[in-house]
Amino acid sequence: MKAALAILWASCAVLHGAEPSPIVIAHRGASGYLPEHTLAAKALAYAQGADYLEQDLVLTKDGVPIVQHDVTLDSTTDVASRFPGRQRANGSFYAIDFTLAEIRQLRVLERFNPKTGKAVYPGRFPAGVGEFRINTFEEEIIFIQGLNKSTGRKVGIYPEVKLAGWHRQEGQDLSKAMLAVLARYGYATKSDLCYVQCFEYTELQRLRNELGWKGRLVFLSGGKTPLIDTDDGLKGIAKVVDGIGPALSAIAEGRKPTGLVARAQAVGLKVHPYTFRIEALPKGFTDGKDYHRFLMQEAKVDGLFTDFPDVGR
Ligand code: G3P
Ligand code: CA
Repeated sequence: MKAALAILWASCAVLHGAEPSPIVIAHRGASGYLPEHTLAAKALAYAQGADYLEQDLVLTKDGVPIVQHDVTLDSTTDVASRFPGRQRANGSFYAIDFTLAEIRQLRVLERFNPKTGKAVYPGRFPAGVGEFRINTFEEEIIFIQGLNKSTGRKVGIYPEVKLAGWHRQEGQDLSKAMLAVLARYGYATKSDLCYVQCFEYTELQRLRNELGWKGRLVFLSGGKTPLIDTDDGLKGIAKVVDGIGPALSAIAEGRKPTGLVARAQAVGLKVHPYTFRIEALPKGFTDGKDYHRFLMQEAKVDGLFTDFPDVGR
């Protein structure tokens, strides 16, 4: 009953223009239950009441943005058996070396370690089975906008520009390719339900200052950086981005908030940390719901990347 009321509340809030707060961001879809970034995982996350669905983006050889976390295909597809001999000298198969037509031939599998063949999360979807495919960014937007039409809800998108500098070294421009798709599907301003995220601050500056992106931006950080560790750093990035996405370890030590959320919110930044996983609770927590409640209500984050969107709802 409580869950139904929460979904109803979230639906009403978005229908009336107010973004629910804090927001639940489905990390690679409901990836705790289905292979990451498949449309099945996105549909489940949608049904579980997520406010935003995340898309990690990389490019194919023919320059198409696809929804895929790694620039390599080794850990989430059957590329090694489907295209033997197409790996680089380091043994990895790179998405950018395959055309979209080739990538469409791959099966997506639950994430595994390609060296051992073992599942990364043994309690999740069974290893090596299923008929899931990689989808393009455009296909995923059509899917989400379709669900928004048929359900009357307004669920947003949360694309991440993966390894922008590396893509440029490979002769391709991921940000430009992403922006072309966003423009085609009506994402342009800060009122549109879209956050663009990136770990490379210089790429976020480029998106804002050179490429003309006027929508929302989020700076992801994986470790120590003066850009979020100091108040001056936060003040500086707040001129470019709308929020930060730190690792959860930066939000609290045990049950004690570090103060980062308050410092960032004080300069107008949203705080959307990553990644809530039931299998990886920090010290001091033994129950996923308790940790989730702590993050939302005591640490007061503005949103949370989660592999388990149902826990948030
Ligand atoms: O984008 C937020 C979070 O997803 C960052 O980590 O490696 O899962 O993309 P990653
Ligand atoms: Ca991501």
